[in-house]
Amino acid sequence: MTHKRILLIIGGGIAAYKCLELIRRARERGIAVRCVMTTAAGQFVTPLSVAALSNDRVFRDLFDLNEEREIGHIRLSREADLVVVAPASADLLAKMAGGHADDLATAVLMATDKPVLVAPAMNPRMWQHPATRRNLALLRGDGVHFVGPNSGEMAERGEAGPGRMAEPHEILAAAEAMLGGSGLVERPLAGKRVVVTSGPTHEPIDPVRYIANRSSGKQGHAIAAAAARAGADVVLVSGPVGLPDPAGVAVVHVESARDMLDRVKAALPADIAIFAAAVADWRVASEATEKIKKAGGTAAPTLELVENPDILRSIAKSPRKERPGLVIGFAAETQNVIEHARAKLQSKGCDWIVANDVSPQTGIMGGDMNRVHLITAAGAESWPQMSKEAVAGELIARIGRQVAGQRPPARAK
Ligand code: C5P
Repeated sequence: MTHKRILLIIGGGIAAYKCLELIRRARERGIAVRCVMTTAAGQFVTPLSVAALSNDRVFRDLFDLNEEREIGHIRLSREADLVVVAPASADLLAKMAGGHADDLATAVLMATDKPVLVAPAMNPRMWQHPATRRNLALLRGDGVHFVGPNSGEMAERGEAGPGRMAEPHEILAAAEAMLGGSGLVERPLAGKRVVVTSGPTHEPIDPVRYIANRSSGKQGHAIAAAAARAGADVVLVSGPVGLPDPAGVAVVHVESARDMLDRVKAALPADIAIFAAAVADWRVASEATEKIKKAGGTAAPTLELVENPDILRSIAKSPRKERPGLVIGFAAETQNVIEHARAKLQSKGCDWIVANDVSPQTGIMGGDMNRVHLITAAGAESWPQMSKEAVAGELIARIGRQVAGQRPPARAK
């Protein structure tokens, strides 16, 4: 069991106080945190409190010869698994985008080859300024990851809008996802068998036509990949998608909902089952064996539909000794997302529901980003917008903690 290490660069801004909570929460989760503070950060939090909470020295000065000899900015980043910048002011973002290295924080950021997660915090006008937009685009192009900012009241009276730093739990969730799961246990699902469904299903009309939907399979595939990285033995039952098979996962390719159900059943018993596929609710009652011909002057054919088996429900409601210990469903909704997901938790008999709003304007269906709510018997928790990989990493980290019998998965809000 090794501990993951975060190098936390604390920038100048009123939100710096939230870093104390971030350090505390990260250490509770077994993640070691070493801190670098910019000169401006020292105006908002004291190095003494940062040192006490991180249980380590705080690094502040590029030209402190003792520190340079002992540790150096190259070593600071080499010894971390992830660099987190919080809060990142407009000035710090500009320096990062411009490749400046005139203090310890920027020198570390220039010298690092580790993934970088940035939590911006600034006045809404500064956040929306074209210079900040340019710097963000440059940094995204460099592969820097972002969490937040959130919208809301600012510290300055009467100011509101986007620019509030993400909350410590949101930063930690994004950091853990980038670290590949919880910091405490490297392979939290070692020895567990996980079945995942992903992608759409194709319901044949005749030998050349089918009914389908817009699911890309990105989220389900990312979950299967994250479960495999967490040490699980993973079977991914996938409908037709244009994605490569994830590494380290046994992939079963299927077309229709009925095939998917058969192959899921064949993959059981499992400890955990995650149903991320967008299974077609209906299929054509009788599939034509020959291509249906368009005969001039005759009426268009009518398709009679019958309901497909509900894979999630049938597995979630299977007899206790056959049922996976943790059954997770997805709910793609276009309105009243949490309310509908709560009802689905009951009707399907599953333990958790990952719900998202797939209205066309969200760009979630087929896109790379997702914004989800985790609904359990304990309540509903809304996660910030993240990449589908990050959602997968966080979900697997949650499952790891649940399996290990740690704290409940979601706090009621
Ligand atoms: O009922 P609805 O389609 O909204 O439920 C979504 C959840 O149920 C998803 O987890 C999906 O994978 C699962 N499902 C299923 N079989 C079906 C329909 C949905 O497993 N026929």
